[in-house]
Amino acid sequence: MNLRLLGIFLLISSWCFSQKKITYYADVAPILQNNCVECHHVGGIGPFPLTTYENVAKRAKFIAKVTDSRYMPPFRADLSFQRYANERGLTAEEINTIGEWVKQGAKPGKVSKKSIAEKRAGKLEPTLVGTSWLEFDMANSYEVKGTGKEDFRYFNLPTHLEKDVYVKAIEFKVGNRKVLHHSRLMTDTTRTMRGIDGMAEADPRVAEFQKTPLEEQFLYGWVPGNDRIDFPRGTAKRIRAGTDLLLNMHYAPSSIDEQDRSGVRFYLTDSASVEREVRTLTLTESDITNQPFVLPAETKPTFYMSYGPTQQDVSLISVLPHMHFLGKTFRAFAITAGGELIPLVKIDEWDYNWQMTYQFRELLHLPRGSTIIAEATYDNTSQNPENPNQPAREVTYGWDSTSEMMNLVLYYVPAREGDTKK
Ligand code: HEC
Repeated sequence: MNLRLLGIFLLISSWCFSQKKITYYADVAPILQNNCVECHHVGGIGPFPLTTYENVAKRAKFIAKVTDSRYMPPFRADLSFQRYANERGLTAEEINTIGEWVKQGAKPGKVSKKSIAEKRAGKLEPTLVGTSWLEFDMANSYEVKGTGKEDFRYFNLPTHLEKDVYVKAIEFKVGNRKVLHHSRLMTDTTRTMRGIDGMAEADPRVAEFQKTPLEEQFLYGWVPGNDRIDFPRGTAKRIRAGTDLLLNMHYAPSSIDEQDRSGVRFYLTDSASVEREVRTLTLTESDITNQPFVLPAETKPTFYMSYGPTQQDVSLISVLPHMHFLGKTFRAFAITAGGELIPLVKIDEWDYNWQMTYQFRELLHLPRGSTIIAEATYDNTSQNPENPNQPAREVTYGWDSTSEMMNLVLYYVPAREGDTKK
């Protein structure tokens, strides 16, 4: 095509586009249904429902703004660095459609018969059919007081498992989506953590419990929209006999008293079908290369982690970076012995509220001799609006949200021919 023809073609296509009438029912509602309603429904974690024309039209400009800036739907990892099986986000075309709809006056259009279906809030039924499962719930329902304050709490759920089981998927059973903001699942096989059940994170007794070396520091991190994690075919996580589950819950502020009784469901597989056991590598405080992990008041420090060179050929399933409120950016990658860079995760605007397990689209091969490197920046100044300590004070390592952490959690299996398709 010569340039003039191309020019005419572009002119015609842009004219066609601008002529297209964009309406709520025909164009916008399907986008919201697929990308927003899972959280923005009555009783959902989103601050308002986006399920009717009236609800959407009255905040149309705001919706255009938060989608254009990619603030919503929430997904904080940089997709130009690495792609994930569980990524979330609108295409440029969808963002454009919403923007154009607002420009054209946010018209409803012809009411379609299929109005937006509200997904049921707090659905507790198993979502993986044809698989046997075990479930473990909090012993009692917990009352989240209507004080308008956040509530961080631990619960201990003994499994009483008499033998090891193999788990091919883990599901979080959200008791009350109105108040449960996120949750982290850990496991303990020493049975010394039972006394932590129901304890507030800020309780000084937590520090004593924190000394117990846990079997899994991060078995699973639940955030809205990340209800289940499936391990790749032929792989499973082994949960040992006598395991106690430990839930670290973050309840959002509520103005009225609410009840929550959440739990965990393990989907089982028989050991014969498990070709490779899923293992967890957790890089933690001891892997930090510029020790000590101390964040003086009114500073913006950067910390680095290094792990390796690795001794085995492995294939990575997922990556989960973890920091608290002072975190600003996080980047992790591996460098092979031959100097090749393997991107893992890059987050430019750390958001405490949206931490998740990023699952690679396919198993990611990490050759033996690789070094894993992570870099995290923090802002411990009083100007940082996220700083839970006002004025800023010196902060060190700890589980409670007014302390800080730097973790990188990787699920992996021994590598096998054909894991990474290039
Ligand atoms: C995984 C859950 C989830 C999804 C999916 C989601 N939201 Fe949200 N949204 C939230 C939560 C929680 C908040 C309030 C906290 C915040 O602003 O981060 C919010 C806040 C908002 C706000 C107010 C922002 C502000 O600054 O007050 C708008 C507007 C919004 N969402 C629109 C959308 C749209 C449009 C989509 C889909 C394209 C969407 N959301 C998808 C959970 C979600």
